[in-house]
Amino acid sequence: TVLVLDFGGQYNQLIARRVRELNVYCEMHPFNMAIAEIKAMNPKGIIFSGGPSSVYAEEAPAVDPAIYDLGIPILGICYGMQLMTHQLGGKVSKSDKREYGKADLTITAEEGLFKDLSGAIQCWMSHGDKVEALPTGFIVTGKTDHAPFAAMGHSERRFYGVQFHPEVRHTPQGMDMLKSFLFDVCGCQGDWTTENFIEEQVELIRNKVGKGKVLCALSGGVDSSVAALLVHRAVGDQLTCVYVDHGFMRLNESERVVKTFREELGMNLIFVEAEERFLKKIEGVSDPETKRKSIGNEFIRVFEEEAAKIGKVDYLVQGTLYPDVIESGTSTAATIKTHHNVGGLPEDMQFELIEPLRTLFKDEVRTVGQALGLPDDIVWRQPFPGPGLAIRVLGAVTKESLDVLREADDIVFQEIKKSGLYRQIWQSFVVLPTTVKTVGVMGDERTYANPAILRAVTSDDAMTADWARLPYELLERISSRIVNEVNGINRVCYDITSKPPGTIEWE
Ligand code: XMP
Repeated sequence: TVLVLDFGGQYNQLIARRVRELNVYCEMHPFNMAIAEIKAMNPKGIIFSGGPSSVYAEEAPAVDPAIYDLGIPILGICYGMQLMTHQLGGKVSKSDKREYGKADLTITAEEGLFKDLSGAIQCWMSHGDKVEALPTGFIVTGKTDHAPFAAMGHSERRFYGVQFHPEVRHTPQGMDMLKSFLFDVCGCQGDWTTENFIEEQVELIRNKVGKGKVLCALSGGVDSSVAALLVHRAVGDQLTCVYVDHGFMRLNESERVVKTFREELGMNLIFVEAEERFLKKIEGVSDPETKRKSIGNEFIRVFEEEAAKIGKVDYLVQGTLYPDVIESGTSTAATIKTHHNVGGLPEDMQFELIEPLRTLFKDEVRTVGQALGLPDDIVWRQPFPGPGLAIRVLGAVTKESLDVLREADDIVFQEIKKSGLYRQIWQSFVVLPTTVKTVGVMGDERTYANPAILRAVTSDDAMTADWARLPYELLERISSRIVNEVNGINRVCYDITSKPPGTIEWE
């Protein structure tokens, strides 16, 4: 294991992902992780991340200096390098100006991180303060025009520091540097692979569950699907999946889920057809949050009823991912997310949780899904909100408006797929404002119907998003197909709002 200590920089999760791309398992923990805990973890190497602070700030995040006596190699990135410099007796100069962007790095010592590199290479800078004098025993290993100490190393103690960011793509040789650090300096094996992960998890789940009964709420999304599949591989029919069709899914989606999991993957799946029940629950409701809550509560009720029919259940599978674990701040948190799937599950449920994906990033989940034989359309499915199309029919929801939306949505899905852009786009969908009607003309006839709003965004994590610059030809095809093929829509608009200030969904 390699330990990444988090000082709050914007690229931190990227560091962890890069390490894992090199097949080295790593975990990210807060910078103030106790020395005893670090010792217990026995990492082969430690990486200090970047961060927004100045080492001179009053509450500057710092590590317990005892960390330097553990005999474990350390790589300090950006703030991490400055902290190391500051704590080991060098000097960091304060600056109000930031250096931001590409810079040319001249390698002055081909050792440590730069063992396989030489000459001038491009790197990515994003820092205010910089190192002015090295701590004792360190040598400068790289410099730029603005930073005479852009990289430093102490080969005996195996401490290294870089002012730039090796983890971003704008440092093209960054992976080579990380590779040298992990394999040559730390002696990592690079044996953390998808296959090993699956094997290990299967073993763990088997031991934990024993002869117990396991339940999983399957949503059709990639996280719950992969989690269920892993557990199924471990305990087979001891796992029961429950899929609740609330009637707000996209065209043919529910049928596809049932076919995939029951027929193709041979899993134990209870399909609950509950469209009427849900429609009734939100009849006349137009407030978005009330809608969400009603759907969430109803989901729990349906789920509990099904669970009760199965008899005593010992474990519940959740598709919690590593970013949620990191964000929750404690690596042992096992609280059920309230916003997970549809509305969340009640806290008084008497299950123990199984969260086989809690150490994985989204792209790793997809890789595991592929290795387990999950079909591509689920592995690569765009995120879909728990309340589904109910929050995309604006205002009060009816079966008729859902059907109209489903048709338009499916055209968008087909056309985006055909254009080859589906995987690059975070989400692409249609919103139907049922209370807005517009005049149009079709053939010789005047029409008076709803517009459809097309929304397509790019994003990394849904926290921020930008509207996708879809090609005009694609927009044109989508527009013309929707207006021609969908009865009830006579106009198509494209939402060009980023998040913030907009949100991805309209409700
Ligand atoms: P917003 O609209 O807040 O959406 O920018 C961010 C991401 O969250 C999804 N989303 C939801 N997911 N239940 C969910 O499970 C919800 O109630 C919900 N609302 C929004 C949205 O699709 C986007 O990916």
